[in-house]
Amino acid sequence: MNLPDPRHFKNIVVLTGAGVSAESGLRTFRDNNGLWREYRVEELATPEAFTKNPKLVHAFYNSRRHTLLQSAKANKAHFALANFESTFEGNFLLVTQNVDNLHEQAGSKNPHHLHGELLRARCGLCEHSVDIEGDLTCQSICRHCGGIGAMRPDIVWFGEMPQQLELIEPALSRCDLFVSIGTSGTVYPAAGFLRLAKTNGAITVELNLEASANSGFFDYCSLGLASDVLPNFFHTA
Ligand code: APR
Repeated sequence: MNLPDPRHFKNIVVLTGAGVSAESGLRTFRDNNGLWREYRVEELATPEAFTKNPKLVHAFYNSRRHTLLQSAKANKAHFALANFESTFEGNFLLVTQNVDNLHEQAGSKNPHHLHGELLRARCGLCEHSVDIEGDLTCQSICRHCGGIGAMRPDIVWFGEMPQQLELIEPALSRCDLFVSIGTSGTVYPAAGFLRLAKTNGAITVELNLEASANSGFFDYCSLGLASDVLPNFFHTA
């Protein structure tokens, strides 16, 4: 089945997941080598985990931040999206579940980080958020309120409210093309974006390494490596 040409649409929403960054050397969550195959979410990615053992949670995110800063580079999939966006004349909204900065590295203008950012920290006392590149510890000081030990990764943990939904949901209700890339479609609210887009008449496309939980509900599905299927779909090969 021929895929639709994204250049023929006027309002595009793209959702990306960990699969887009896999070829940059960043681990996904639910694949064979996924993070949640090795670690327990309950011990590392909930507010309760941080209260119980902040040192362990800091070590987990510090390690992922090191990998991102020391070795991860944007790959052809990130560049394909950024290049398409730079020439597309309609409305283009990129929403990512990823906490890395690889979309920004490739030149995407304003990716919306639904689950926060690894290179930002937030104070648990005053809620002030700042860019960071070093390690967070239990002695980290908030540069805004001076609080000690309340700095946490600016990541949306399980049980917390994802960011910027007030902006994303209206865009989904207006879009005529919704493209889901490199996500297993298992975590809400992102997994529900497909239904919202379909309900409002959008054409829906899935680009993924393998069929996801929602594959059967997409109008089109193209399976393969993101670095292959994205440049082909967005005609930016
Ligand atoms: N190219 C395209 N797709 C790929 C590639 C690749 N090179 N490698 C893996 N994939 C696909 C997998 O087939 C899988 O469907 O990417 C998807 C990754 O799924 P998950 O590991 O579940 O990651 P994601 O969907 O982004 O997880 C959503 O869960 O734990 C939370 O906050 C975390 O943002 C994350 C959310």
